[in-house]
Amino acid sequence: MILLTGGAGYIGSHTAVELIQAGYEVLIADNFYNSRPEVIDAIEKITGKRPEFEEMDVCAPVKVDALFHKYKVTAVIHFAGYKAVGESVEKPLMYYRNDLDSLITVLEAMKKYGVNRLIFSSSATVYGVPEAVPLIEGMPTGCTNPYGWTKYMSEQIIQDVCHAQPELSAVILRYFNPVGAHPSALIGEQPNGVPNNLMPYITQVASGIRPHLNVFGNDYDTPDGTGVRDYIHVVDIAKGHIAAVEYAMKNTGAEVINLGTGNGYSVLEMVKAFERVNKVKVPYKIAPRREGDIAECYADASKANRLLGWKAQYDLDTMCKDAWNWEQQLRKE
Ligand code: WQD
Repeated sequence: MILLTGGAGYIGSHTAVELIQAGYEVLIADNFYNSRPEVIDAIEKITGKRPEFEEMDVCAPVKVDALFHKYKVTAVIHFAGYKAVGESVEKPLMYYRNDLDSLITVLEAMKKYGVNRLIFSSSATVYGVPEAVPLIEGMPTGCTNPYGWTKYMSEQIIQDVCHAQPELSAVILRYFNPVGAHPSALIGEQPNGVPNNLMPYITQVASGIRPHLNVFGNDYDTPDGTGVRDYIHVVDIAKGHIAAVEYAMKNTGAEVINLGTGNGYSVLEMVKAFERVNKVKVPYKIAPRREGDIAECYADASKANRLLGWKAQYDLDTMCKDAWNWEQQLRKE
């Protein structure tokens, strides 16, 4: 049984769907801090199979121990964690406590119960301000906010534990910019409050919830002056986790792997693609740069292909279409 901590969240729920459809037994542990109970129903509706579910905080050692005692866990995908960059700057202790405590608690339970396969949800944010693009796994890392440092420190903790426990197999996945939603439009991104990320903000402008998009700076050293990112369909990210689980089952040691498409798109390219694909308008205004933003960030995705046999399949048009279908579904509720 594959344990997904935080498995009711955006990436976690899409991964649960792909795992179930690949024939795996899935157990989700989530406290609904940044997700909703309806997501479990949606996973069942998409796959025809309801995952096992425990509502809990994975920072609680007694509860995590009971979970490993109750279920035959064979691998863990650790999604659980806070992930808002801006909030992490305001509340660093909350982020370090939660994101590091949850990982250490899970690793201790894995050791006690002899569970030797871990997939960890990391982020391209650990590359900090890139010295060059595309970003390659061995390139220098260093963060610009506490959220990024929790990922950086978590990667270090996992690598140290793998060194001490040679039987452990850990795949650290550095996500670039996940966007879009499952084609069924039954699961997708549900940011609380005002979206921090570009795509959910665009979809809320297109649906009339927000008057316009603020483009955070058009004076970067990029082709059109706006920020360039490696947007990747959330279903591609989910499938990357299946490949990582299969790799972890056959190997030991720690591997860091980028999950990106290898293509960078600017903010304005994203806006134009969204308008073209969905035949909607996305009014925008040029606004000042957002603190902490970098000009350009996209992946060298060759290691994932070489090691996992995985490559992103969905193009930008599909990302825009699925994101819009999800937003329209949300507004119907
Ligand atoms: C993308 C581009 C903005 C909003 C963050 C985290 C990263 C990961 C993904 C968790 C940038 C521009 C955005 C808006 C804009 N999260 N933008 N107007 O900053 O690349 O990455 O989310 O793991 O860790 O750092 O993503 O979507 O916020 O921004 O112009 O209203 O869109 O300046 O160029 P980012 P983003």
